[in-house]
Amino acid sequence: MKSPLLPLAMNSNRREFLQFMGRSVGAIALLSQMPACATGIRSRADLPLTAIVPSSEDALTLSPGLKYKVLLTWNQKLNQKGERFGYNNDFIAFVPLDSKGSEAILWVNHEYHDPITVGGWRPGQPRTLKQINKERKSVGGSLVHVKKTENGWSLVQNSKYNRRLDGFTKIPLISEEPIRGTRAAVGTLGNCAGGVTPWGTILTAEENYFNFVGDVEFKDGKREQVPGDTYLTWENFVKLPPEHYGWVVEVEPKSGKAKKLTALGRFSHECATTVLARDGRTVVYSADDADQEHLYKFISDKPGSLEKGELFVANLEQGRWLPLNWHSDNRLKSAFKSPTEMLVRTREAAKIVGATPLNRPEDVEIDPKTGDIFISLTNSKIKNDAFGSILRISENKSDYLSLDFSLATFVAGGPETGFACPDNLVFDKKGNLWMTTDMSGSVMHKPPFSEFKNNGLFFIALEGPSAGIPIQVASAPWGAELTGPCFSSDGRTLFLSVQHPGEKNPDLDNPRSHWPDGGNSQPRPSVVAISGPALDQLIQS
Ligand code: FEO
Ligand code: CA
Ligand code: CA
Ligand code: CA
Repeated sequence: MKSPLLPLAMNSNRREFLQFMGRSVGAIALLSQMPACATGIRSRADLPLTAIVPSSEDALTLSPGLKYKVLLTWNQKLNQKGERFGYNNDFIAFVPLDSKGSEAILWVNHEYHDPITVGGWRPGQPRTLKQINKERKSVGGSLVHVKKTENGWSLVQNSKYNRRLDGFTKIPLISEEPIRGTRAAVGTLGNCAGGVTPWGTILTAEENYFNFVGDVEFKDGKREQVPGDTYLTWENFVKLPPEHYGWVVEVEPKSGKAKKLTALGRFSHECATTVLARDGRTVVYSADDADQEHLYKFISDKPGSLEKGELFVANLEQGRWLPLNWHSDNRLKSAFKSPTEMLVRTREAAKIVGATPLNRPEDVEIDPKTGDIFISLTNSKIKNDAFGSILRISENKSDYLSLDFSLATFVAGGPETGFACPDNLVFDKKGNLWMTTDMSGSVMHKPPFSEFKNNGLFFIALEGPSAGIPIQVASAPWGAELTGPCFSSDGRTLFLSVQHPGEKNPDLDNPRSHWPDGGNSQPRPSVVAISGPALDQLIQS
């Protein structure tokens, strides 16, 4: 989703920040060996992927040896009920339907709407209920049955698995007590990144829900309503309690049955990344994408369920996971009436116990070889960190149940490394890291971001001579952000969301992006399937 405005100055606290993080070497050591401007890196002898130069073109530009096919696109009809693929596709999960993985259900998040494109609203005019209802239909997520043939991946039209969850879907709240008087929410909103559980269900994370329904603040025990985003909000038409959003939602891919897991806390959940602990329980890492918010870890009470468990928040100075345990912590007991109220107000609880503020923590991924946890820190206006970094955490004795960890900065954004504002992460089958960037439309192409040009997709090997060196392998169309990178089971296809091409599209007669159709067409957020000999060679090497 669009980032908040950033300062146009380089970060004075950046070196201090890196020193704080940098108990390790990794990429920081590499940086000093690299040329002054790494955007000049074109090829590495040990890699089949050739870097592209940053681009301002209105095109999805890929490294040589890679090609793409548009697989799913906004408003595409999915089934005979007339349900359609939603807007601003983000996180993608691949759930194979056969042993070869040539047939699968994809889950795709639809993070937010655009009132002009989706509802047909025009600036200066009042919004109508009909327009709002179209917007509510365009968000949430899609489940789509896809199949690979000799022509590549395509949608299985009218499959029984094709369905939508949207801003109208009734979803139970799994919690000890009712929330705002009910045990079910209407709709899932702000679905940004997510995860897949060890038992094959989808986790979709509700991030910037407050843009749609506003938010609440608690002052001296009083609940106060905070208005949503003036461009996106539905508050003039429908009253939806903000406390019903900001959760992680678990979805069964075959049935579409969903539930909101309140035990994982409520905040701007960027993602929900799962891993099995030694004793069979599940650990979920989730970051709160707001400036100076926190990183959380959840340990389930039982294997195979995330309905109950304990929530922790990271203190990086101590290398400790701090429990948010209402029953055993008098500070939390005196601040909140019940465990449920504490979970609704997770951010406040995190600050009470001493969580470390972070520079917009976004996606989290786990290195399949070392088990280390990688966290994107997109940037920070408050800390004057314009370009962001990737943080690496190692749990003590590689035990996900441990409450102690060590940390290091894996790589920092900036002119030296050629990227700015890391967001989504994914590991491929070989243990290489892929990263997308999220420079917001308001700062892109302006100093100090000018040289990075459009948002991109980067590849970072973790082993070999090129370890730790980011190389750009894709450039997004004008105004777009690449999101939700996800590999097929065989690793030979990378599914990728192209979100908000031509963002906000201020001039409908002269759209700034025409992607993907070209000509004078309006832009359409779409999911692409990327494949080709370069990826085959990388995966088979
Ligand atoms: Fe929706 Fe934090 O990106
Ligand atoms: Ca983002
Ligand atoms: Ca994101
Ligand atoms: Ca990810």
